[in-house]
Amino acid sequence: MDWMEKELERLNDASLERLLRGSAATPQLPGYTLRGERLLLNLASNDYLGLAQHPAIIDQMRETLLAEGSGSGASRLVTGNRWPYIVLEERLSRWQGSEAALVFANGYMANSGVISALVGRNDVVFSDRFNHASIVDGIGLSRAEHARYRHNDMEHLEALLNKHQDKRRKLIVTDAVFSMDGDAASLVKLAELKRKYGTMLMVDEAHSGGIYGECGRGLCNELGIQHEVDIHMGTFSKSFGVYGAYVCGSRTLIRWLVNKARPLIYSTALPPSIVTGIAAALSLVEAEQWRRERLFSLSASFRSRLLHAGFKVGTGNSPIVPVIVGDNEAVLRFSKALERKGIEAVAIRPPTVPEGTARIRFSLTAAHSDKEVNNAAEIICATGHQLGLIRR
Ligand SMILES: Cc1ncc(COP(=O)(O)O)c(C=O)c1O
Repeated sequence: MDWMEKELERLNDASLERLLRGSAATPQLPGYTLRGERLLLNLASNDYLGLAQHPAIIDQMRETLLAEGSGSGASRLVTGNRWPYIVLEERLSRWQGSEAALVFANGYMANSGVISALVGRNDVVFSDRFNHASIVDGIGLSRAEHARYRHNDMEHLEALLNKHQDKRRKLIVTDAVFSMDGDAASLVKLAELKRKYGTMLMVDEAHSGGIYGECGRGLCNELGIQHEVDIHMGTFSKSFGVYGAYVCGSRTLIRWLVNKARPLIYSTALPPSIVTGIAAALSLVEAEQWRRERLFSLSASFRSRLLHAGFKVGTGNSPIVPVIVGDNEAVLRFSKALERKGIEAVAIRPPTVPEGTARIRFSLTAAHSDKEVNNAAEIICATGHQLGLIRR
C-alpha cells in the first residue's frame, strides 16, 4: 500500500488533497455550520430553500419512523416498496405533469442507473463537458460512446449529432443548472436539437428543481419545454432538504427503469421515514413561493456585490455564485481566511472543475437574512483585497 501514501503526498503538495471537515458538536442551525466549537455562516450548502431543519419535515419523519421502523428491509422489487413510495410517486407525477415517476435512493444512483439502463455499446450519449460526475459515471457504466460537447456550445453539439447519425440510440443529457458554475443549460435549443435529430433528452434538475418554475417544478417548466424532456430527473437532497431523487417521464420509461436500472433493483429501498419526509418537503416546495423569491433576491444582491468589487463571478441568476480564483493554493488560502472570519466557503479544485479554474463556490439559502448576506459580502470583498485577489 506504499503507493497510496506517495500519491496522497503528491496531491497534498499540489494543494489538491480533499479533506473531510465538520464537527461532532450539535445542534445544527439553519444557514450555519459548526467547525469544532465555532459557528460559521454556511455559504456552501445546497439547502437552497432552507428546509433541511424544517419542523414539519422532521415531525413527519419522526411519526413515520415510530410507525414503520428504521429501515425498509429490502430492495423495492423484493419487500421494500412500502406505502410511502406509492403515495409519493403519485404526487410527483402530478407535480411534474408526467405519466409516471420513480424514486431513487439518491441523485448519483438515479443518474448512473438511468443512463446505463437507456444506452449501451452501440449507442451514443451527448453530454455537456460540465455535467455532474454522476452523469459521467453513468455514461462510463453504459459503455455507450461518450460525445462530450464544449460547455453550452450548441454548434459543437450539432456537429457531434451530425457525426453520430448512424448510432442505434442517441441521448442528450445535461444539468439544467450547472453545479459548479451556477449557469443554466441552453434548454430551449437542446429541445430543438432533440427534435431535429430524433434523440432522447434527459435533464438533471438537481440544482433547479424546487427553485425555478411554477410550484418549484424546475427550469424546464419555467421555460415551457417540460413536455420535450423524455427523462426528467431531480434530487431531494438539495432544495428539498432531505435525501433521494426522482425520475419523471412516460409510463413506459418508468416500467423500463424498474426492469433495467441496476441501482434501483440491487440496492435496499430508502427507509419509509425518508420517503414521507420528502413528501412533507414537497408540500412546502409547492406552497411556499416566498422561499424562492427570497432566495433569488439574496442571490442577486450577493452576486452584484461581488461583481462590483471586481471578482470574476460565474454568470446566471441561480443561488450558486462561483468566484473564480484560478490557482489551487490561492483558493485554499481564500477559503481558510474566510473561515477565520466566520464564513464557511469551500474551495473547489480540479478535477471537479477544469485545471486553472479553482474557485470558491458560494451558495445562498432562503434561511439567510439580508443582513447576514450583506455582512458576508463585505467580509468576502475585504478578504479578497487583503489577499490581492481583487484590486478595486
Ligand atoms: C447536477 C447533480 N446531479 C446529481 C447529483 C447527485 O445527487 P445526490 O447528492 O442526491 O446523490 C448532484 C449532487 O451533488 C448534482 O450536483
